[in-house]
Amino acid sequence: MKNLLDLNGEVAVVIGAAGVLAGAIAEAFAEAGARVAVLDLNAEKGEERAQKINQGGGRARFFFCNVLERETLRKANEEVESALGAPTILLNGAGGNDPKTTVSDDNPFENIPLENWRRNFDLNLVGGALLPCQVFGPGMVARKRGSIINIASVSAHIPLSKVVSYSASKAAVLSLTRFLAREWARHGVRVNSITPGFFPAEQNRRLLFNEDGTPNARTQAVWNHTPMGRFGEAQELLGAALFLASSKASSFVTGADIRVDGGFLAQTI
Ligand SMILES: NC(=O)c1ccc[n+]([C@@H]2O[C@H](COP(=O)([O-])OP(=O)(O)OC[C@H]3O[C@@H](n4cnc5c(N)ncnc54)[C@H](O)[C@@H]3O)[C@@H](O)[C@H]2O)c1
Repeated sequence: MKNLLDLNGEVAVVIGAAGVLAGAIAEAFAEAGARVAVLDLNAEKGEERAQKINQGGGRARFFFCNVLERETLRKANEEVESALGAPTILLNGAGGNDPKTTVSDDNPFENIPLENWRRNFDLNLVGGALLPCQVFGPGMVARKRGSIINIASVSAHIPLSKVVSYSASKAAVLSLTRFLAREWARHGVRVNSITPGFFPAEQNRRLLFNEDGTPNARTQAVWNHTPMGRFGEAQELLGAALFLASSKASSFVTGADIRVDGGFLAQTI
């Protein structure tokens, strides 16, 4: 049987690929044969990621983007097309939580500054999904070929304590994913999402760990609520990402959300 997860001939744009989760996915796409465009705000780590892929025998290049600025995405799209070919896969992996929106005794819900609330929506919804879909989507639609993967969160399904605006912005990502799945299905472009559970990364370090790196009370609560009783590792997202990226493996899959959460959303009490 042919390799269902083979990505030879694909050009994958992986946004946030300097980071932990999208970075691991970028490496997996390259290993599966795709030419990979590493897009990120962080040029130093982005270059490192592209270099690591190339040294491992894959083909990758770094392109700067700030997902909050459409023009940088438009420029990156042009540069990717001339350097690697027209994008056929888009993984939207930039995102995070603005700490000033985290509810606590010192920062009650009613005091969350609107500016910071908006910042979360800008990063996770507008930059984390909407603008890249607006910039990279039409080319895929015109060529009738594409797979777009957005990164949601368990908090998109049931809001987590403390991170109210992050949760709401990720719920909006799920909604946008389904809207575009319906909109572009007849144009050969599939749009799906992955819901990761808890994976230690840069953007959630302060929420999950004490200053000295030891797990805090929230981490214990997460583990207690996760049937598998542990955090996920970035490598454990790769199967879902490869499946959704591959038009051989998931040709009839659009508007889907794959939960990779150790059972977090399956548990109540
Ligand atoms: N780690 C988790 O447990 C977890 C759980 C659920 C969802 N997620 C989501 O997964 C995605 C990846 O997060 P991660 O955990 O790997 O975090 P990370 O901080 O390691 O990576 C995020 C990357 O996004 C980049 N980025 C941030 N703002 C940007 C901007 N304006 N323009 C371009 N790039 C920008 C950062 O430079 C970084 O490389 C995010 O959407 C996050 O919300 C993570």
